Amino acid sequence: MKYSLPAMRVRPPGPRAKKVIARDERILSQSNWRYLPLVIKDGEGSFIEDIDGNVYLDFNSGAATQSVGIDHPEILRALKRQIAGLATYQPIPGYFYSELVVRLCEKLEQITPGHHQKKVVLGLSGSDATDAAMKLARWHTKRRRFISFTGSNHGLATYGALSVSGYGAGMVRGFSPLVPEVTHIPFPYQYRWEGPKDMGDWVLDYLEGHVFRTIAPADEVAGLLVEPIQGDGGVLVPPRGFLERLAEICRSHGILLIVDEVQTGFGRTGRMFASEHWGIEPDMILLGKPLGGGLPVSACVTKSELMDWPHGSHVLTGAGYALGCAGALSMINVLENQKLCVHASQVGSMMKRSYERMQHEYDIVGDVRGMGLLIGVEFVRSKRSKESSADAAKSVCELAFQQGLLTAYDGLYGNVSRITPALNISAKLARVGLGIMEDAIAETQKAQNRL
Ligand SMILES: Cc1ncc(COP(=O)(O)O)c(C=O)c1O
Repeated sequence: MKYSLPAMRVRPPGPRAKKVIARDERILSQSNWRYLPLVIKDGEGSFIEDIDGNVYLDFNSGAATQSVGIDHPEILRALKRQIAGLATYQPIPGYFYSELVVRLCEKLEQITPGHHQKKVVLGLSGSDATDAAMKLARWHTKRRRFISFTGSNHGLATYGALSVSGYGAGMVRGFSPLVPEVTHIPFPYQYRWEGPKDMGDWVLDYLEGHVFRTIAPADEVAGLLVEPIQGDGGVLVPPRGFLERLAEICRSHGILLIVDEVQTGFGRTGRMFASEHWGIEPDMILLGKPLGGGLPVSACVTKSELMDWPHGSHVLTGAGYALGCAGALSMINVLENQKLCVHASQVGSMMKRSYERMQHEYDIVGDVRGMGLLIGVEFVRSKRSKESSADAAKSVCELAFQQGLLTAYDGLYGNVSRITPALNISAKLARVGLGIMEDAIAETQKAQNRL
């Protein structure tokens, strides 16, 4: 291993990083997030080295794309084997056939929830998987409407995905008109809910009793899109019974249940797919982020009978590229062989307990939630007021960065640290990161008390 612990040489951003950032700002679209001024040069496992030689522990794992760490040796071996064969050819399955593509799709059929026969459309991003699902849902049902949730992120790069996402006004401002006939309903946010009954029940009563009656006739709704745990919306875990009842509502109205596991899939929550926690069987499941083992690969996996669209109705030239398929098969192999779902569940429980202790000790930590290694830490001005504090989340992220820990923050109010380390992070390394993060929380709390 090249790295064993975070190690800071210069205060980031160092001189080399500053130069690259200045060049970037001139030439690149500045439409990306950019939480931190990190200029990446190298990485391995749960570590990233910046261009000035600082080494960081990665609690973000590349926005949950590096689920088995950076440059996992088995994935590198699989890629090298593939490079020795067909490395750069593209339009499969767009034009032709390949056994490698079939193998990956058969594997996805086998491991995704439900024992029914399935079919798969491959892609390159979560966004295009969402668009594929929307197109297919309209085609198959001959209905035109969609229901999705505020706070959701189903992708921002394509118009379909952007239209069903509901994550921030800044992402849609200036881009209208979006795909029409999408109705957003609130996702249960238990921590901020002050209504008389369970927020999950309230939302579903609202959907059935109000939305279907007033603005979106259920018999015109093609599909409902949902993240089983809303990731970018602030790691919102729905209350017990919510997803089960939602699935039942969809079934009873002939609405396709489209479950977006782009962020929660492949062991992230301690099960292969988060849907398994609630025993729901999606009609369509969206996969992406970690699927390619670090390379961009996505998929929309559906019940076999749904995928009845004709030749030529959905083609993406680069989808199913050989290296991506090899990376995906290898990543799934590593997950299964190393029993990383169980490991993620165990390390995740330890980390969550640790954050819960911090919640007890620091007034700015309002809530801690999540499953497995998808954990959200919500920052507030004080526990009593529950007033959201994006400043605190930003400060914790920046202070941790200075000490060699990478985290991200988002959520509806920009105040939730989203903790998504690689699934194979050791408990020991996780504790190192927790220590750095606790120092950052303590310092942020102190600064706030001084105000
Ligand atoms: C749940 C979910 N779906 C879809 C997407 C979009 O993926 P991409 O950025 O690859 O288009 C994201 C990205 O964060 C996501 O979290």
